[in-house]
Amino acid sequence: MKNWNRRDVLAAGAALAALPRIPFAAEAKTMMSRPIPSSSEALPVIGLGTYEVFDVDSSAGEIATRKEIVDRLTDMGGSLLDTSPMYNRSEKVIGDVINAGVNRDKLFLATKVWTDGREDGIAQMNRSADLMNTEIIDLMQVHNLRDTAVHMASIRESQEEGRIRYSGLTHYTASAHAAISKDMQTFKPEFIQINYSLGEREAEQQVLPLAQELGIAVLVNRPFQAGRLFSTVAGKELPDFAKDFADSWGQFFLKFIISHPAVTCVIPATSKPHHMADNLGAGFGELPDATMRDRMVEYFNSL
Ligand SMILES: NC(=O)c1ccc[n+]([C@@H]2O[C@H](COP(=O)([O-])OP(=O)(O)OC[C@H]3O[C@@H](n4cnc5c(N)ncnc54)[C@H](OP(=O)(O)O)[C@@H]3O)[C@@H](O)[C@H]2O)c1
Repeated sequence: MKNWNRRDVLAAGAALAALPRIPFAAEAKTMMSRPIPSSSEALPVIGLGTYEVFDVDSSAGEIATRKEIVDRLTDMGGSLLDTSPMYNRSEKVIGDVINAGVNRDKLFLATKVWTDGREDGIAQMNRSADLMNTEIIDLMQVHNLRDTAVHMASIRESQEEGRIRYSGLTHYTASAHAAISKDMQTFKPEFIQINYSLGEREAEQQVLPLAQELGIAVLVNRPFQAGRLFSTVAGKELPDFAKDFADSWGQFFLKFIISHPAVTCVIPATSKPHHMADNLGAGFGELPDATMRDRMVEYFNSL
């Protein structure tokens, strides 16, 4: 495999930059943000997931494409990247993108610990920081509630030492909502990450109201049900009632999520700069109100 250097990445990036950008009416405005309840720090509402889409080799072309995606995120005022040691090469690719010129200070780096035992957990968290080329990890989450008590204790220690800023718990299925609710009450993390979308609305029942009650920030994963929502609407025009607040199906799905009052940030994954630009568009303009949200659900359920 060819090793890339900074010049290769810049050359490949220049070729990508020549691609047409999706125009945004709102380009000059600031992306919506939400306060993290524990600190009041503002977090932009659209982030980026890296599962599968950043699990690529470190060739110049692959890194240039990921850099272009992250540049679009930060250019439009976004900051959050979500990854995990479970996502194979993704943490290293984030480090490569930072080495290729993305300003680490513009990023809110969220990763996870996904192993058993205190020593292995600490080693994995240190390795994540090394791979991502960062001294401080903004958010360390216990992936899928694996060995939660052990890792939360280690994360708290690292927070006291200033090496991790926030703690979190994640899961991605409705069958785990009862367990994450219990752990939210026991461990009081500053963040949770959970599945929520027009196709998976179970979090509305218990997890999202509990997060509001406890003052826990919410990241939303699987916003497109890993892409399945786009298949549901394939070949269909956006309904007229949505055209005041969405320019695309992606924005329709994301605005449904960020218009829930418990949600802090949504993390759609993409391997394509133009999809990143499309998704970022959901961070601007009007949001659906409660009546419109009901209409979106009714419409989606009729498909
Ligand atoms: N347990 C956990 O902690 C957990 C579990 C699941 C997910 N997550 C996190 O949540 C993130 C998001 O979830 P996910 O990766 O499962 O899937 P997702 O974000 O629901 O969907 C990603 C898919 O949507 C497509 N897509 C993205 N933007 C699009 C657009 N504007 N138009 C059309 N297609 C678009 C992508 O394809 P293209 O590449 O072609 O754009 C990709 O196939 C993950 O990457 C990960 O960071 C965490």
